[in-house]
Amino acid sequence: MQNDFWHERWQLGQIGFHLTKPHPLLVGHWHNMFPTQSAGRVLVPLCGKSLDLVFLKERVNSVVGIECSPLAIQQFLEEQGLLARSRPLGQGIVHEASPYRLIEGDFFKVTAPLLGEIDAVYDRAALVAMPESRRSDYARHLRDLAGQAPILLITIDYDPEQMMGPPFPIPQRELEALFGENYRLTLLEETDALDESAALRRRGLTALTESAWRLDPR
Ligand SMILES: C[S@@+](CC[C@H](N)C(=O)[O-])C[C@H]1O[C@@H](n2cnc3c(N)ncnc32)[C@H](O)[C@@H]1O
Repeated sequence: MQNDFWHERWQLGQIGFHLTKPHPLLVGHWHNMFPTQSAGRVLVPLCGKSLDLVFLKERVNSVVGIECSPLAIQQFLEEQGLLARSRPLGQGIVHEASPYRLIEGDFFKVTAPLLGEIDAVYDRAALVAMPESRRSDYARHLRDLAGQAPILLITIDYDPEQMMGPPFPIPQRELEALFGENYRLTLLEETDALDESAALRRRGLTALTESAWRLDPR
């Protein structure tokens, strides 16, 4: 999926992935990531204008999002009533509205030195937005950016005969192939997600599971 595809989705307002409340698996499992203390800096790759950013900002010192669509960032700032200071950063632009740091640019062009140290990563609808040809690059780059930080990662799974992604199904064996060498994978919860996904049902799905995974660096 090239960035033009996503720019067009935002321009046309075709953002069925956007939820009107924080994701239930984030709400249910964030405490499993940091049971005793809050994390300092959380990275949210491919963040859109997700309300998960708002959920996280109540719990951490700094929320760092990466998003290629200027429209998504503009809408997030407007909807949250925030005024940001913006400046160039690497090949992108960083918008600072404490505790948010939203990097407008291509995820693959954001480097670890530009990003700085990260204490945790939250991935919802980022890995599953990647076509198969980009998934191993995504996993490698995420690991480079995350350093020793654990990752809370939400995957979905469905019969690929029923629908063409995005979002793409990521079965357990594929997650293990992508991350297993560098991370210990723990399944935190698996839920039946079809009832909350009317749009995906209309696209042909008759079954859909959503899973929350904790990935700890080996
Ligand atoms: C499926 S949406 C998920 C957004 C958000 N995580 C959520 O849960 O609502 C994927 C987002 O990633 C952005 N995106 C896709 N490819 C990207 C890339 N290479 N670099 C930065 N952002 C990207 C898109 O613009 C889109 O907003």
